[in-house]
Order: sequence, then C-alpha cells, then structure tokens
Amino acid sequence: MAKTRTKYVCQNCGYQSPKGFGRCPGCGQFNTMAEEVVEAARPASARHPGPVGATSPAPQRLSEISADVGERLFVPVEEFSRVLGGGIVPGSIIMIGGEPGVGKSSLLLQICGVMSDHTGTVLYVSGEESARQIKMRADRFNLQSDNLYLLTETNLGSIFEHVRRLNPVILVIDSIQTTYMDEIESSPGSVTQVRECASRLQHLAKSSGLSVFLVGHVTKEGSIAGPRVLEHIVDTVLYLEGDPFQAFRLLRSVKNRFGATSEVGVFEMSGDGLTEVPNPSEAFLAERVVNAPGSAIAVTMEGTRPLLVEVQALTSPTSFGNPRRTPNGVDFNRLLLISAVLSKRVGLKLHEQDIFVNVIGGLQVSEPAADLAMAVAMASSYYDRPIPADLAIVGEVGLSGELRAVGQLPARLNEAAKMGFKRVLLPKTRRKIDGLPPSLKLIEARNLADALASALPKE
Ligand SMILES: Nc1ncnc2c1ncn2[C@@H]1O[C@H](COP(=O)(O)OP(=O)(O)OP(=O)(O)O)[C@@H](O)[C@H]1O
Ligand SMILES: [Mg+2]
Repeated sequence: MAKTRTKYVCQNCGYQSPKGFGRCPGCGQFNTMAEEVVEAARPASARHPGPVGATSPAPQRLSEISADVGERLFVPVEEFSRVLGGGIVPGSIIMIGGEPGVGKSSLLLQICGVMSDHTGTVLYVSGEESARQIKMRADRFNLQSDNLYLLTETNLGSIFEHVRRLNPVILVIDSIQTTYMDEIESSPGSVTQVRECASRLQHLAKSSGLSVFLVGHVTKEGSIAGPRVLEHIVDTVLYLEGDPFQAFRLLRSVKNRFGATSEVGVFEMSGDGLTEVPNPSEAFLAERVVNAPGSAIAVTMEGTRPLLVEVQALTSPTSFGNPRRTPNGVDFNRLLLISAVLSKRVGLKLHEQDIFVNVIGGLQVSEPAADLAMAVAMASSYYDRPIPADLAIVGEVGLSGELRAVGQLPARLNEAAKMGFKRVLLPKTRRKIDGLPPSLKLIEARNLADALASALPKE
C-alpha cells in the first residue's frame, strides 16, 4: 500500500519543505509554515511521462492555429465588461479578490442576475453564506431570474456533479478558500487545497467552455490569499477596491490573458447593490467646493481611462518637534518628496507645518502625474490662496523642482475640457503633441516655482 507523506507548506508564499521552519525561507514571514498531508506517493511509473500516446496532443504549425477566442459572452454591465476586455471569454477562469465586505459577493450576484437573463443558466455556489442570506441579497437587488441557481456547497466533487447535471454557462465559486477536495487531507483554505481546486476548475473550464468566476480572499498585505501560483492558474485577476467609508468601488484588472490590464470599472455601492458610474470624473468632482484654499484638480489615468480627481491639502503649524505628514489616497513617500522639494526649491517653510493630503472619493492615486496637483494644493493651503476653479493640473515633479512631462496627454486634456475646465497647468515640453483640445488654454511651466506663480498669483 502507498505510504502517506506530509510536508510543510508556507501559507503565505507556498514555499514547501519536508521540514518545518519557524521562519519561512521563501518569504521570511514567521509562523506561516503548516504541516499538510500530501497524496500517497505515486508509483515511479506515474512520475515519468510515458511514450507519446494517442491522447497526447500533436505539435501544430503556428500558422495553422486559430487565434480566435470565440464569441465573447456579452455583459450588459459596461463597467464590468470593459475591465474584462469586452465581455466574458467562454472557457476562461476569472478571479475577483478584495477586502472583506468590499462587495465581491454583491457584484458577482448582480452579474449572475443579468447574465442569467441574457445568456443562459448560471450557477452561483456559495460556501460562505446560506441560501437564505443570498436570497435576501437578491431580493434587495431585485433579481428575479429563473435561470439563476444557488448552491451552498464546499465540496468540489459535489459541485462538479451539479455542474454536470445543470450544464450552466457561468459558474461562480464564492470562495475558492472555502472549497475543498476529498482526495486531499489538508484543511480548506490551505495552499494545497486552494491550488488543486483551482487547477481542477481550470481544467473543467478549458475542457467544457464553462466560464468560471472565483472569489478570492486577500491577505493583510492586500494580495490574494493562498499560493502565488493561484494567480498563474487563472486567466484574469480582478481586484475590487474601495474605502469602506465611501460609496465608490473600483474594479481593477491586474492580469488579463484576454485584454488590457489596469483597466478600471467604477461602481457606487448602495442598498440596491452596485450601480455603474459611467462618468467617474463628474462623480468625483460632484462635492467640490470651489475657491477653497488647498484644493487642486489632478488629471490622472486609470488604465486607458482619464480621471479627474480633487486632491486636498492642509498645512497647519505643528505643535510637536516632529511635524506630521498624513496621506490619504496618495503614497506617503511621494508626499515626503513633494514637501521636501517645496521646502528646498521654492522656500516654503514646511518643516514647521503638519501636512495632510486627501484624495476625494476614496481613490488611491499612485501615478507621479498627480505630483504637481499635490504640490500646488499644499502651497495653496500654505499661502491660504485658492487655485482658480477653472484650472486643472497635471505633471510630475523632479527632485530639483523641475517638471516632467507625462504620457497620454491628449486623453487627459480632452477629459479636462469635457469636464468644463478652461485651463490646464502642465510641464513645458518641446515635443509637439497632436490631438489636444483647442478650447483649453495651456499654461506651461518649467519648474515648480513657475507653476506656483501661475496657479497662485499674488493679489
Ligand atoms: N442592506 C444594505 N444596504 C446597503 N448596503 C448593504 C446592505 N447590506 C450590505 N450592504 C453592503 O454590502 C457590503 C457587503 O458586501 P458583500 O457581502 O458582497 O462583500 P464581500 O466582499 O463579499 O464580503 P466577504 O469578504 O465578507 O464575503 C457591506 O459592507 C455593505 O457595504
Ligand atoms: Mg462575500
């Protein structure tokens, strides 16, 4: 009889070893290695590939292979469809990760509702909530499709059995961490279980043309919990992000074998579920108070999509020896860098000021193109002079206070013009850029001091 073996697997990075360690040699985390039972040792004959048999695929000429991914399933929710690259590819496996309570189950249930109306049978499998809980949510969203089936099950074998009987077009597994296989003895959510369940589901998707959505939990650090290899198994990885105190939710694609990455869909959470926000710039600027010192409008890009956001800054004399820097929605190091450049190159006495920076709408702005808006907002608060209401700002700030050009300028400026801005403050460049909106007045600046002189003229 085959002997059962055990091994130690890091629950953070998937590092495997026959021996346990207090600190994982793979990722350096403490107490993450857990003992797992592995399948009985396979006979030596099974470990080596045999001769090429009738079942193994023959090599094909590249020119003879069709690149057609087949007709994508149309998704009537435009924000969701765009993030996937224009609909759901049949036979693909898509993972949605996000913080607890951000709305992963809500979003997928809504998508299941519309897809079951438009495309065919959809099976939603939940291992986390009861059928009643899901029904209450469906009633709240007003979903009444006869083609939407619910199943509360965590055993993958039983799920496969129901899939065979029901033959759905779309299968949702909420979540991959609660699903388990009988053949593997380690507990649900362990690295081996998660990896094997995902591999089986991938095989099912590829062989039957069924599209599978997996909900994935995230770790404290914000990456999908379970082995890294999970992200390699699936075709698409989406993250649902949002500030729990804000209604906006961003669905971001970080990996997509069938479309562009960094695409973003914007939704708003309400009692009726997540509703699409077709014009996010308008939504993010809706509560803007014009002529308030410390408020600047940055023109950022989220994937291929321009987005206007309000960056607010407040500088106030510090009561401590160490002035505080508090970012919300911007990178802490970026905030330090900008305040250092403002002190050294422009002469603002920020070493005696606490600085708070906030991006409105719960958005995380990480691109350097928002540097200049952040710098002007800080200076505006410092001088207590408002930035003109019709001015949008774009540009990267360098260490010597110089301004650097940013990419995708036509898309950014067209969005600014569309939102009613009359002027844009941007870095001076010698390159000729086509496609800029004629209605917009461009105010070019070489360095931060010039930019501040244009944006915050002395009365
Ligand atoms: N009655 C309600 N009215 C308005 N919003 C609600 C209501 N009930 C729940 N919500 C919102 O839905 C969110 C929960 O969404 P959901 O259960 O889809 O999240 P999740 O990402 O699946 O969470 P988990 O990781 O726990 O499964 C809550 O955080 C809340 O914002
Ligand atoms: Mg959920």
